[in-house]
Amino acid sequence: MSVATRGFFPEGPSGGVRRELKRGTQFGDGAPPFVNERAPIRVGIVGAGKMGLSHFAIANGLPGASVVAVCDTSRYVRSVLRKYAGVQTYGEADEMVTDAQVDCLIVATPTSTHFAVAKQALQRGLHVFVEKPLTLSPAESRSLADLALERKRINQVGFHNRFIGTFQEARRLIRAGALGTPSNVHGSAFGQVVVKEQSSTWRSKKSEGGGCLHDYACHVVNLMDFLVGSPARVSGARMQRIFSTDVEDAVSAVFDYGTMTGILETNWSDDTVRKMSTTVTVHGSQGKLVVDRQELKLFLRDGCAFESYAEGWTSRYITELQKPVPFYLRGEEYSAQLEAFFQAIRTGDMGHENSFASSYETDRVLDLIKRADSLVN
Ligand SMILES: NC(=O)c1ccc[n+]([C@@H]2O[C@H](COP(=O)([O-])OP(=O)(O)OC[C@H]3O[C@@H](n4cnc5c(N)ncnc54)[C@H](O)[C@@H]3O)[C@@H](O)[C@H]2O)c1
Repeated sequence: MSVATRGFFPEGPSGGVRRELKRGTQFGDGAPPFVNERAPIRVGIVGAGKMGLSHFAIANGLPGASVVAVCDTSRYVRSVLRKYAGVQTYGEADEMVTDAQVDCLIVATPTSTHFAVAKQALQRGLHVFVEKPLTLSPAESRSLADLALERKRINQVGFHNRFIGTFQEARRLIRAGALGTPSNVHGSAFGQVVVKEQSSTWRSKKSEGGGCLHDYACHVVNLMDFLVGSPARVSGARMQRIFSTDVEDAVSAVFDYGTMTGILETNWSDDTVRKMSTTVTVHGSQGKLVVDRQELKLFLRDGCAFESYAEGWTSRYITELQKPVPFYLRGEEYSAQLEAFFQAIRTGDMGHENSFASSYETDRVLDLIKRADSLVN
């Protein structure tokens, strides 16, 4: 049995729903009320854990931006940042949103808190970057997307795969028709987040946004959407527990795109993989493409050579496909996404990558997976 929802937005090309703006779309007459181009963008960060501290370093490492305020519920984290980083600190997000002199907010708290913090920030007129996934419900994500458009504020989500050169080239090739008509897509991610029974953290609690679906599967669903569009229906979903008690450790599902079918396979309890490894394979009438963070492999049938890609197999590597960034931490994509966010703030380009509206699409599919799983469990 499959599960489908009627989208909130008009139908996208693959039968999914979307309301993204084209690159370069601006509000007003080309001079929207964005920050002074010459003044550094003042950044506030909510949640200074693994991702928040990464964003802290990257934002300060990029030209034209400076972190001036941080909010974290941990008193220890606040005292260290006050003492060694010289930033204003807050223990409550609403206090920081009201009080701090910032142009934008980066939200890197446990996922269950994203909605309330992002909503407050948009209401206060701040541009907002939220870590993935945007929220835990498509309805909340949609309302944030609508609010951001209404307030004309830049809104971005941390789906960093869209800033990786191999995935960008894969999307370009698929859209340009190098594969002919796509017929099947397979997306997977494996890693070792939970490889034994664990003490309790927010990642092990469903109510806080823990679990493989919102931690791992969301990245793959978002990337598959980037490459081939989003499915209209989901069936055969399984959310399996391996070590965890309150959340799932593996998620699989079948996607129906109308003319194309897809398979999703994710497992964060795979101790054969050192770091999260994400791979997408797309079959088409003219060939096949296999892409991960390091390499793009394209096979083209006889008579189907495309641009510089010959018949048979061609491999291209991240070293030639990735655009350089001014500051490197964790991977170029993490800097590239914040660079894009700051650039959109400067130019007022509401059509930038990874808008709340595009992340709503991901949350819609995650919800379909949950509902399809509940039909069999
Ligand atoms: N894009 C990626 O690759 C990636 C990787 C890891 C995590 N994430 C996302 O980033 C977010 C944070 O994950 P993390 O791994 O950094 O978590 P973390 O546990 O390392 O850090 C969370 C921080 O938020 C603080 N915090 C908790 N509740 C708060 C609140 N209400 N107000 C202010 N501070 C609060 C905690 O004290 C902690 O310092 C999650 O949404 C997660 O899905 C994204």
